[in-house]
Amino acid sequence: MSLNDFIKQLDDLVESASKRFEDAINQTDHQVLEETRVEFLGAKSGKLKEAQKGLGKVAKEDKPAAGKRFNEVKTRLEELFQAAADVITGGGKKGKAEALDVTLPGIRPRLGHVHPITQTIDELKDIMGRLGFTAVEGPEIEDDWHNFEALNIPLEHPARDPLDNFYLNIAAASHGGGNQLLRSQTSTVQIRVMEESQPPIRIVSLGRVYRPDEIDATHYAMFHQIEGLLVDTNVTMADLKYVLRLFASSYLGGDIEIRFRPSFFPFTEPSVEVDMRWQDTWLEFGGAGMVDPNVLKAVGYDPEIVTGFAFGLGVERLCMRRHGINDIRYLYDSNTKFLAQF
Ligand code: FA5
Repeated sequence: MSLNDFIKQLDDLVESASKRFEDAINQTDHQVLEETRVEFLGAKSGKLKEAQKGLGKVAKEDKPAAGKRFNEVKTRLEELFQAAADVITGGGKKGKAEALDVTLPGIRPRLGHVHPITQTIDELKDIMGRLGFTAVEGPEIEDDWHNFEALNIPLEHPARDPLDNFYLNIAAASHGGGNQLLRSQTSTVQIRVMEESQPPIRIVSLGRVYRPDEIDATHYAMFHQIEGLLVDTNVTMADLKYVLRLFASSYLGGDIEIRFRPSFFPFTEPSVEVDMRWQDTWLEFGGAGMVDPNVLKAVGYDPEIVTGFAFGLGVERLCMRRHGINDIRYLYDSNTKFLAQF
């Protein structure tokens, strides 16, 4: 085949494709568009594929020119198809012009919304900031040392049961290569802060924790805690109670009733559980106490010189009490109608 014949064949192809794609546009028909695409650009027996065979038949010295022309035609056909597709699906200039109806109300962009738990976290940080507590963060993947050992929770303690924790199948990089787990409490951050700094300490840490708890109205397998730690000389239980009362009334209102119940945590002595009054009953919202001397020793402090208090409160429960949400699951159902209320 001569070069001229080959080029003539390609020109004819472009001409007929232009007409056929124009027809598809005029009919505004997806089906016709697809048929036209297959007819010209179909990978198996499209007309372009057919024309490519002619390439093999032109003389060797004409091949570069023929190949160049073929590629130009291929690009042209693809452009014709894309332009037709844009118009038919309304994306092209012509389609937009046809679809414009100035009497329509317009599309309102949906505005994003800060999740109520994030709002609560911001507000709690703010309140504690005003009381002089600096916000710090800790990792969600923790090792045995920070989640248990340094918190005076020995190996045989039931809190370390595999059924009560999300252990990970990876080795810890620090502290003798023990287990790693998704932290079950933010008390881990107490240790991290005390390991790295000297008293006086006054921090809060807010973040996610994980427990394989059965999910119900007040329990979820992932939830948030706010941890507070104050270490200094002459810190007493009265300081702890004062700070927690001030914190609760700042967030929940001056008329909130809270109570302290004697309890036990391996890392505080004495320990209390803190409840708030809600709907004629009491709901526990956290644990607290005076930092156990063993914990102070584990991080290299002298318990004869410094004392401290610590608390860990459930952020979801505080948020629920504040907004009258009676089931924690509402917070995590991703129902935007519910979430948009806050
Ligand atoms: C602790 O986690 C201790 N680390 C608290 C602490 C810190 C004590 C510092 C002493 C000193 P507890 O397991 O009770 O304690 O959990 C604290 C709070 O987290 C609970 O009162 C509750 O408000 C919240 N909580 C616990 N489990 C869940 C859950 N599954 N879903 C939602 N909130 C929970």
